Amino acid sequence: MAWLDADRCLVIAHRGASSAAPENTMAAFAIAIDLGADGIELDVRRSREGQLVVIHDASVDRVTGTAGEVASMSLEEIRGLDAGSRFNQRFAGERIPTLREVLSLARGRLLVDIELKVAGIESQVLEAVRGAGMHENVLITSFLEDAVAASIAQGRGIPVGLLKETSDVDRASELGVPVYLPSIRVLSGQIMHECSVRGVRVIPWTVRSEEEARRAVEFGVHGIIADDPTLIRSALGRS
Ligand code: G3P
Ligand code: CA
Repeated sequence: MAWLDADRCLVIAHRGASSAAPENTMAAFAIAIDLGADGIELDVRRSREGQLVVIHDASVDRVTGTAGEVASMSLEEIRGLDAGSRFNQRFAGERIPTLREVLSLARGRLLVDIELKVAGIESQVLEAVRGAGMHENVLITSFLEDAVAASIAQGRGIPVGLLKETSDVDRASELGVPVYLPSIRVLSGQIMHECSVRGVRVIPWTVRSEEEARRAVEFGVHGIIADDPTLIRSALGRS
């Protein structure tokens, strides 16, 4: 859990460097590394046969242009789709990755914030994390309180964070998470104070403008999730 004790603000690339490359693809994660991000954020779901795949939506439609529900498709079907062309033809042939692939790329390079988009996959995700030797370099997050609670119960010390659209630090305390992830839209001095007295770290999402980046930095947050890591590095004076 050493990364949680870092005394500098962590720059976390949202769905990889998703302003520069198709979200949640190996290209987006590799570019995040090149751009000096401290971490990457990604979204996890499960295929029909139970493989962990990295995709935000419940369907493959938006990122691939092909209709299909992730949970009803086999890994082979999912892997057969082009997840890059819709963003830019330069990325034609990018695939929807497995969690295992991304963990392998990230190992020894940067942190991984794994957002559980569905409940019931906690033990499988934790097993994948441990299997990849990444247990000291991940943060498990979710909007789903059942998934947060199950991750804490099964995580054996792997840090877990609660995502919230609104301000609800009490819920974070009740669940016992060490990290609270509010929307940048609701980030406030009150949240910072309430988290500070509880010893909870604050990582807002998703920062997309210089103004939001500056505001988050001024609040003294512990990390910032952003589509463009260079925006945050610049606000932190690291460029
Ligand atoms: O990590 C926070 C952020 O990723 C949550 O929103 O919709 O981009 O998954 P979303
Ligand atoms: Ca996410």
